[in-house]
Amino acid sequence: MKRVGIIGVGEYLPKKILTNADLEKMVATSDEWITTRTGIKQRRLVSSHEAASDLAINAAKEALKDAGIKPQGLDLIIVATITPDMQFPSTACFVQAALGAKNAVCFDISAACAGFVYAIVVAQQFIARGTYKNALVVGTEVLSSITDWEDRSTCVLFGDGAGAAVLSEVKSGGILSTYLGGDGSLADLLMLPGGGSRNPATHKTIDKRLHYLKMEGNEIFKSAVKIMTHTAQIALKQAGLKCSDIDLVIPHQANVRIIMAMAKRLGLPEEKIYLNIEKYGNMSSASIAIALCEAVRIGRIKKGDIILLDAFGAGLVWGACLIKW
Ligand code: ACO
Repeated sequence: MKRVGIIGVGEYLPKKILTNADLEKMVATSDEWITTRTGIKQRRLVSSHEAASDLAINAAKEALKDAGIKPQGLDLIIVATITPDMQFPSTACFVQAALGAKNAVCFDISAACAGFVYAIVVAQQFIARGTYKNALVVGTEVLSSITDWEDRSTCVLFGDGAGAAVLSEVKSGGILSTYLGGDGSLADLLMLPGGGSRNPATHKTIDKRLHYLKMEGNEIFKSAVKIMTHTAQIALKQAGLKCSDIDLVIPHQANVRIIMAMAKRLGLPEEKIYLNIEKYGNMSSASIAIALCEAVRIGRIKKGDIILLDAFGAGLVWGACLIKW
């Protein structure tokens, strides 16, 4: 088996900013409530012409440049998203065409906020076995397209963006361990009920607002803390490492209280947790991807550092990945 690592990262955030003050004018909420309950101050939103693939393409170009790989050198493109451009073809196909990555196999993964970690693990399998050499993994979301802007319990939480990583064989370091899990019995806690084959889009489904995401925030909150802690512990155990060996955790950015509760359970100091939720909110599969890119760019991640990616999301699904940078 080959050793696999991330050799380039990229990100793209749409220009438009929606602040908590803007939301105060849209629903019965306050900056104080949103900040203390979630840690979010603002989020980015796409403009009307931008879809998930447009964000993905920008992030992908940056990651390819960072990796020093031409689009034709890609063998595999995996896009993690719950807001694809359309039901089919896959968003990965649009990305492949726009990049001119004509040698790449392409498909999407639906694993909500754990999508980027799931996609990394899938890409790793192909590279480790020697099936493919270079893989592009993108987490991209236009969550504003499935957000009910009249529901204050959810509309304050989400944002749009994309992050990308190029994976390839590395001589040292790279992915040390991975762990994925899921519990479909908890699917009801967070879903987009309309528009699929269960409830195909009709005037009735639109009137019932089934084309917007529905969430039991409280229940997810409790599960998330337990799951993220457990997931981190398993990944560490598999790599034969301790919490104190971690230099930086890049957690899924759903709620600062979830992240800090997880850090406390793991006994990790605050300075070892990377947070950008304040600026972007929860961008589902794009959150970890963008946070990873940002942390690299600003020098929070240095060569030789031990990094933990730790995610959970709708499904419920979860995943962790320990990387020596
Ligand atoms: N502004 C003001 N008040 C609000 C708002 C708002 N935006 N939203 C809810 N409230 C009110 C509620 O109506 C409730 O009022 P009541 O006590 O009079 O009934 C009160 O605030 C408390 O509501 P809770 O839902 O209990 O608030 P909680 O502290 O649980 O915070 C939150 C809600 C932020 C959603 C939290 O539960 C959370 O972060 N959950 C996890 C979300 C998550 O991680 N999702 C999964 C990932 S996303 C993905 O996979 C796509």
